[in-house]
Amino acid sequence: MNQIHKIAVLGGGGRTGFYLVSQLLDQGFQLKLLLRNPGHFKIQNTNIEIVKGDALDGDVVERVLEGCDAVISTVGQRKGEPLVAGQATMNMINAVAKRQTNAENFRYILLAGLNVDTPFDKKGIETQKATDWMKATFPDIHADRQKSYALLSASNVSWTMVRVPFIEFVETKGEIKVGLEDSPGNKISAADIAAFMIRQLTDNAYVRKAPFISN
Ligand SMILES: NC(=O)c1ccc[n+]([C@@H]2O[C@H](COP(=O)([O-])OP(=O)(O)OC[C@H]3O[C@@H](n4cnc5c(N)ncnc54)[C@H](OP(=O)(O)O)[C@@H]3O)[C@@H](O)[C@H]2O)c1
Repeated sequence: MNQIHKIAVLGGGGRTGFYLVSQLLDQGFQLKLLLRNPGHFKIQNTNIEIVKGDALDGDVVERVLEGCDAVISTVGQRKGEPLVAGQATMNMINAVAKRQTNAENFRYILLAGLNVDTPFDKKGIETQKATDWMKATFPDIHADRQKSYALLSASNVSWTMVRVPFIEFVETKGEIKVGLEDSPGNKISAADIAAFMIRQLTDNAYVRKAPFISN
């Protein structure tokens, strides 16, 4: 795997994004953040470069990737806004394909909920219940996430879709359980999500896979 120095982060201004950005900075990475509202962003650090824009904009996503060795996304759907997961993934795949070097090894690590289905799942009762609830309550958002998974599966990008249950916005709990067929638990701390996502930058175990993680 190639050396990773600079990471593009999408969703870094969100709740999980805060833990992600903080941990990446603690580990000495340089960051390029895509933010729609840079004025709302509270973390100040000389290792952060900010690009103002929207993940729905393919040109902006291309610009964010310039000079970066990997991308991590904690983008989440905002109520009443255009669907973001499928289009952002499409923009990311297109931007990666335009890279001159390292395109096929370029890591794209993104966060999703339990509701995404993969052909490898054997979801237990609780995970299936959460999936069915999402499909019934937010069918468009569910379908958009599913589209994101389908696009990734059909691409040659080195993606990892990290599927998580209820997020507790607290510091690390330490133990992270991983399942490839079902969620091993019903909650996870945001700090542990960040730690797991960062670990995927240098760990090939879940490349082109969608692991469930929990505490
Ligand atoms: N919260 C949970 O319990 C839970 C459970 C399972 C899975 N998840 C998933 O985990 C992820 C993170 O959740 P969270 O609670 O940390 O989310 P959050 O606080 O709502 O943050 C979402 C981030 O996405 C950004 N974003 C949304 N649309 C965008 C766009 N078009 N272009 C650029 N940025 C955009 C938002 O930017 P703005 O600040 O500009 O709006 C915000 O920074 C989401 O994908 C969510 O579906 C959450």
